[in-house]
Amino acid sequence: MKLLITGSYGQLGNELLTILKTGRAEIGPIDPAYQGAEVIGVDMDTLDIADPDAVQAFVEKEHPDVIINCAAMTNVDGCETMHVAAMKANAFGPRYLAMAAEQIDAKLIHVSTDYVFAGDGTTPYCEWDTPAPNTVYGKSKWLGEQYVRNACKKSFIVRTSWLYGYVGKNFVKTMLKLGSEKEQITVVSDQRGNPTSANDLAYHLLKLALTEHYGVYHCTGEGECSWYDFACRIMEKGGKACRVNPCTSAEYPSKTPRPAYSSLRNLALESTVGNEMRDWKEALDMYLANLGGNVQ
Ligand SMILES: NC(=O)c1ccc[n+]([C@@H]2O[C@H](COP(=O)([O-])OP(=O)(O)OC[C@H]3O[C@@H](n4cnc5c(N)ncnc54)[C@H](OP(=O)(O)O)[C@@H]3O)[C@@H](O)[C@H]2O)c1
Repeated sequence: MKLLITGSYGQLGNELLTILKTGRAEIGPIDPAYQGAEVIGVDMDTLDIADPDAVQAFVEKEHPDVIINCAAMTNVDGCETMHVAAMKANAFGPRYLAMAAEQIDAKLIHVSTDYVFAGDGTTPYCEWDTPAPNTVYGKSKWLGEQYVRNACKKSFIVRTSWLYGYVGKNFVKTMLKLGSEKEQITVVSDQRGNPTSANDLAYHLLKLALTEHYGVYHCTGEGECSWYDFACRIMEKGGKACRVNPCTSAEYPSKTPRPAYSSLRNLALESTVGNEMRDWKEALDMYLANLGGNVQ
């Protein structure tokens, strides 16, 4: 088997490479079908997914059985001011990958986001709920989903949220850093969602890739919380004395409005390969223990 991982320097891409190399995720071993698999990791410097000719040539030459697209412009505020760049990375790039995958009859797993939803729900969004993104990031990811679905028959679209991995920047590392520098911080308590371990997500992507259950999936940590709850747990389990004070989004406005409620339910996973996603607290505690003090 040959796998192509795009965006391989990022949080999720890196996690996939590690798991495929070691044969194990934190949840458990991956399928023996991956033993001896050839894995090609590419990022901006080796394959810009927004370059259609480069994508087609690369995919034709390497002829992977499975492409997992982890490349994206994930800077939500940056997307708001750089529309074209956001659309290139999050919508057109996935389309080029989908067209190339279709041509060689490969499977494509494309990763998307909770930001495709309006974020004004009160119960977890299911896969059949209608997206209505409010941000440029969300709009670009939603367009990317549609392109992928239309261009590639063997495609999986997997939405996740509040992601953290061992490599790269994320909320957990930011909190740990602030926890070492400050006596107290303020974090919004009126936005709720699902913290998700990139390691757990990668494990499930590899499970899906071995099936033909194409379609839309949600894959997030089990259980929901607010950013405030998330920060409190990070400080507590990360051994930081820093006090966390709750505030509202109105008291702490961000450049780009964040969804108030974007919890996702992993229903399609449950009904196909099984939902082994861990409770967000359990996954976070292991992550913090493994990370030690390394917040680079
Ligand atoms: N992070 C989250 O909280 C979150 C939440 C929900 C969904 N997601 C989705 O989950 C997936 C993985 O996210 P992540 O956190 O692992 O992202 P990440 O850490 O930001 O990694 C994305 C990688 O893709 C690269 N990239 C950007 N544009 C590219 C292009 N045109 N061609 C090739 N590579 C390109 C980035 O390079 P540069 O760093 O040089 O730009 C980076 O190395 C994405 O689809 C994201 O939308 C993430």
